[in-house]
Amino acid sequence: MALLFTGVLCFAIIAISLPGSSWACQRCPSRKPDLDNEVHNQDGEHDHKTWLFSVNGRKRPYSFLDDYGNLTGFDVDLIDEVCQIAKKRCKMVLSEFTECSFTSRDINYAGRGLMAEWFDGCPGYVNSIDREGAFDFTDPYLDTYASFTVAPGNPSLFDPHTSDYSEFTFTHLTGAVTNSKCLARLGKKVSGIIIAANLPEAKTLLLNRTADVLFSPRSKITGLEVLPEREHCDAGGTAVMLKKGSHLAQWWNPAFESLVRSGQYQKLCEDSQVKYNRTIRCMASPTHSSPESPEV
Ligand SMILES: *[C@@H]1O[C@H](CO)[C@@H](O)[C@H](O)[C@H]1NC(C)=O
Ligand SMILES: *[C@@H]1O[C@H](CO)[C@@H](O)[C@H](O)[C@H]1NC(C)=O
Ligand SMILES: *[C@@H]1O[C@H](CO)[C@@H](O)[C@H](O)[C@H]1NC(C)=O
Repeated sequence: MALLFTGVLCFAIIAISLPGSSWACQRCPSRKPDLDNEVHNQDGEHDHKTWLFSVNGRKRPYSFLDDYGNLTGFDVDLIDEVCQIAKKRCKMVLSEFTECSFTSRDINYAGRGLMAEWFDGCPGYVNSIDREGAFDFTDPYLDTYASFTVAPGNPSLFDPHTSDYSEFTFTHLTGAVTNSKCLARLGKKVSGIIIAANLPEAKTLLLNRTADVLFSPRSKITGLEVLPEREHCDAGGTAVMLKKGSHLAQWWNPAFESLVRSGQYQKLCEDSQVKYNRTIRCMASPTHSSPESPEV
């Protein structure tokens, strides 16, 4: 009777679903195993999971929608290669970056999308001390830094070399690690920080003189001046940011390490700079176990 009921329910679900939707009837008793959806991992075990990587589509050259609407970039290519090595089924998914991370009253929290497992990882996020309490991370796959951006001509005469920044109003994007905690770790005295909802808002804040300095990991922002000084808010680089307790790093890290050992990481990085016509912050020796690293 229960079986019959499930069958009827499944029939109803199929009837109202569009053709091609594969999730419609997972509990249907007569459903045949979908061999195409089956991936075998290194241990020969079956892994039906599709691992989802969330990006917002606005980070050229790492993950962005090209002129034709195709999601592309270095991160997309890297994820493809790492997942192939690990024999995992992986997909990119577009969502707002605040679903990965956001700032509330000066603290970095994990976004709803990551916590509720709408997706498994957020590539392109910096591993930092103040994120350790909210996230797990894979090993880093890109270098990163922090920079100071001002309006053209530096009208507030901001000097990054001083340690007292209290005369200047800072801004940073919500969820960023280039935040007040990092400025404190750098020994800087800061008074006012405005959290910007996104980059266009941060730009407006600088251009209309509400804020003097944008603290960010960027090397170039159209219409603004990025000062040449470089600082570090990260604890090792840019990685895939994960929900606490995630199993993703367990297969990602060894697969990434094998990509590095084979020389394919460096090749992908160099090729991508040509393919996407941008500098990519490739790591010189990405994993701690690289053969060249001195033994201590
Ligand atoms: C879209 O991007 C993917 C990944 O880089 C690539 O494999 C595919 O050929 C691209 N498609 C088009 C139409 O450009
Ligand atoms: C400056 O821009 C911000 C963000 O758009 C806005 O909230 C603020 O009111 C503006 N201030 C002035 C003085 O125009
Ligand atoms: C690559 O970027 C440079 C500088 O942004 C630009 O001048 C050049 O036209 C670009 N080349 C291609 C092939 O898009």
